[in-house]
Amino acid sequence: MATNRTFTMIKPDAVEDGHIGAILEKITASGFRIVALKLTQMTVADAQEFYAVHSERPFYGELVEFMSRGPIVAAVLEKENAVEDFRTLIGATNPAEAAEGTIRKMFAKSVGENAVHGSDSDENAAIESAFHFSGREMF
Ligand code: TYD
Repeated sequence: MATNRTFTMIKPDAVEDGHIGAILEKITASGFRIVALKLTQMTVADAQEFYAVHSERPFYGELVEFMSRGPIVAAVLEKENAVEDFRTLIGATNPAEAAEGTIRKMFAKSVGENAVHGSDSDENAAIESAFHFSGREMF
């Protein structure tokens, strides 16, 4: 499988709870190379745009409010089969359904406040990485 990239965010709940270091450690220990990284905060407009695909869903308003309420860590990660392997590492959207040892099982509180984002396709990984990082910020 080709080496490729995915995009992640450590969400405001996990940043507030002091889990940045533990989550980055788990990510790198799982074989992902960090190729871009920053602490940042999305405005309401940023979160609306980032999650536009969910704009018709009932949870959209809460999701936008949550994702813009405080700092996040945005990162681009590189590994063979990055998108699929990272989604395995983070676990199910609902932490109650996430497998033991996954990041969401370890750190997420609820389906809404679920600690981490992981891109769901190579195409979205590229779009989401470009949303947060310029070419000069990716190594
Ligand atoms: P989704 O893309 O379905 O999940 P994932 O993050 O696992 O790819 O949904 C995006 C985010 O929307 C999800 O991480 C949390 C939020 N969300 C809710 O708040 N309630 C819900 O019922 C669902 C399905 C998602």
